[in-house]
Amino acid sequence: MPVPRLLVVHHTPSPAVRALLEAVVAGVRLPDVREVGDLALDVEPALSATASDVLAADAVVLLTPANIGYMSGALKHCFDTIYYPCLDATRGLPYGLAVHGNDDTAGAIRSVEKVAGALGWAPAAPVLSTIGNPEPAVLATAQELGATLALAALERGERRAR
Ligand SMILES: Cc1cc2nc3c(=O)[nH]c(=O)nc-3n(C[C@H](O)[C@H](O)[C@H](O)COP(=O)(O)O)c2cc1C
Repeated sequence: MPVPRLLVVHHTPSPAVRALLEAVVAGVRLPDVREVGDLALDVEPALSATASDVLAADAVVLLTPANIGYMSGALKHCFDTIYYPCLDATRGLPYGLAVHGNDDTAGAIRSVEKVAGALGWAPAAPVLSTIGNPEPAVLATAQELGATLALAALERGERRAR
């Protein structure tokens, strides 16, 4: 029986975004999550994530900077690559989203929600939107995002196994 799998797809261009990524991963590895069951974690740069990575996932965390009022070109490239292979096959996939910007992340959030909605993915946590250097409270929220999506992956993986 395959181990449930959480995929983190990220575009990480700076230390601030890297700190968010590390917090998400730390959330996945929290003892509370480990107690629930075994989970495989794939952390993939958006420029190299493939349809196979997404098809194998039981939940996904997306992490992107806001760029010119949109998701990063890297995450857009990922969606362009996986869209048709994953359409239908990944309907209902739980996902979480974290967006980092320097003043306005609204367009970037909208752009991701639009594609994820078209794929039929299900938001499993509130969107984490943040600007500037991530404060401890923001990193704690990123950690929570990782933990929530890890639990969603475990739940979906368990349902798949039944
Ligand atoms: C070409 C470009 C466009 C950007 N557009 C936006 C934007 O529309 N909204 C926003 O909040 N930040 C924007 N940013 C800022 C990035 O989101 C930010 O640099 C990134 O999240 C990394 O954060 P840091 O520079 O504070 O480390 C843009 C940055 C670049 C390079």
